[in-house]
Amino acid sequence: MEGKLVRIRALERKDLDSVMRWVNDPEITKNLSSFFLYPVSKEQEEKWLENIHNFDATDKVFAFETKEGVYLGNIGLHKINWKNRNAELGIVIGKKEDWDKGYGTDAVLTLLDFTFNRMNLHRIYLRVWDFNLRAIKSYEKCGFRKEGILREGHFEDGKYHDVIMMGILKEEFNSKAG
Ligand SMILES: CC(C)(COP(=O)(O)OP(=O)(O)OC[C@H]1O[C@@H](n2cnc3c(N)ncnc32)[C@H](O)[C@@H]1OP(=O)(O)O)[C@@H](O)C(=O)NCCC(=O)NCCS
Repeated sequence: MEGKLVRIRALERKDLDSVMRWVNDPEITKNLSSFFLYPVSKEQEEKWLENIHNFDATDKVFAFETKEGVYLGNIGLHKINWKNRNAELGIVIGKKEDWDKGYGTDAVLTLLDFTFNRMNLHRIYLRVWDFNLRAIKSYEKCGFRKEGILREGHFEDGKYHDVIMMGILKEEFNSKAG
């Protein structure tokens, strides 16, 4: 999937070392789901990589890279629901130096185009912790709307934080894109 700045492609075994560089960095993982609470071993990550290519999986995780082919991070769809035609989006850029360069927004826009116009999903939603202002800004640039707040739904650094639910519908995306 070609974006303006990035290319989304299948995650490969060769990405394992790049992934290992961020999965144990709390500055990055504190923004992600609680799955990353405990230290992750290379063996665990290898097993996870093997499983994501299951044909029937309701989770599809991809890598994305610069146009020069340098790995940037992972982006994926979770809890894909074919009846209701929705899924939850997740994204991470593995190196802080690569943040704020527009890569994340471009990757999300590129994946939204794929989910709405190739997979024919109807709605994409996500959860973001209230302190993650960079992510919220990026999602708003992509056209996501704030839909609700799960009060004190996430515990991090010794206190509870609100979880912001955001979502975008196919017609909203296509009217913005077109
Ligand atoms: C969230 C993430 C994917 C966004 O990707 P990115 O490439 O850094 O984002 P972009 O550069 O496309 O956009 C970020 C925007 O936030 C703005 N921003 C940065 N810090 C900010 C802050 N503290 N408050 C408000 N806006 C902020 C940037 O200026 C930019 O807006 P602009 O283009 O109008 O200047 C990436 O930063 C990341 O992987 N972070 C760590 C993991 C994570 O948080 N994942 C999401 C979990 S929900």
